[in-house]
Amino acid sequence: VILCVCPSPAIDVTYRVDRLVPGATVRVNRVDSHPGGKGVNVARVLHALGEEVLVVAPSGGEPGEELRRGLVAVGVPARLISDSTTTRRTVTVVDERGDATCLVEPSSTTAWAELVAAVEGSLGGARVVVVSGSLPGGVPPGGVAALVGAARSRGVPVVVDTHGPALLEALEAGADVVTPNVDELAAVVRDDDPTRAARQLAQLHGSVVVVSRGPDGVTVVTPAAAWEARPGAAVTGNPTGAGDALVAGLARGLARDPGVFAHPEHVLRDAVALSVAAVQAETAGSADPKHHAGAMPGVVVTALGGAG
Ligand SMILES: Nc1ncnc2c1ncn2[C@@H]1O[C@H](COP(=O)(O)OP(=O)(O)OP(=O)(O)O)[C@@H](O)[C@H]1O
Ligand SMILES: [Mg+2]
Repeated sequence: VILCVCPSPAIDVTYRVDRLVPGATVRVNRVDSHPGGKGVNVARVLHALGEEVLVVAPSGGEPGEELRRGLVAVGVPARLISDSTTTRRTVTVVDERGDATCLVEPSSTTAWAELVAAVEGSLGGARVVVVSGSLPGGVPPGGVAALVGAARSRGVPVVVDTHGPALLEALEAGADVVTPNVDELAAVVRDDDPTRAARQLAQLHGSVVVVSRGPDGVTVVTPAAAWEARPGAAVTGNPTGAGDALVAGLARGLARDPGVFAHPEHVLRDAVALSVAAVQAETAGSADPKHHAGAMPGVVVTALGGAG
């Protein structure tokens, strides 16, 4: 099982409108809503690939019930922790030109200790733990370290996709793989060269640092070596959730072989192709297998010179 911890799940609501005019009354032509949050997106992509997953997330209030029903509807198993804080919604307003405006409610939790306990209780049989998304308010200092430490003490590799102090805390706690995008990396390392910044983190913490660079693909630095993997071509579409598909691909590779980053050519080709397919998909948390397969041969993986 791949455990997908989603500290800040959401109900993602999409409104289709002709035109979004601030200050005016705008009629909504269509409403869609589905379970979201980065950890949930990762789990949905993995589930669609046929991987066994378990979402672990807090949930509260009526949106929390909607989250539970929505995950059942798509067949993604979940261990939802009852939270006295109501699960947030995000509202994305898409106009006829395809421009998207996203309103994101703040998230907070009163159930962090229970969430950590639930992850600990789910580690038997786990091949990888993924912790994905921003941390809700209410997480005590050391909250991320507790999650990472729990997995590490059982010998389960951990992938963490988050930002800011939580990213640094995950690295210090020994996260095996972190996946900042260039901006998230620049926010935690004072070096404007992403490869150098990633090398610094990889060497200091002994982690694999996967820097995602939008249409330019990824730069991957391990303590021993460095690679670059580029999509064959930039595609147009919805980049929201592309990072989650990338994380899903990396987690699947680790689940099959914990030592995969010694020779990561294949996993990088697979994960980058999956992220390209996610850009082509209309909603976050999905990737068409045809697009995935179609993008594989185009991905160019190059070893970078110099020791990691
Ligand atoms: N326009 C694009 N064309 C082709 N591939 C893309 C494009 N945008 C993103 N990708 C792929 O998706 C990966 C992740 O994208 P990006 O760097 O935007 O992640 P992110 O900023 O973490 O996004 P998010 O976390 O919101 O999903 C990239 O490394 C790349 O492989
Ligand atoms: Mg991201």
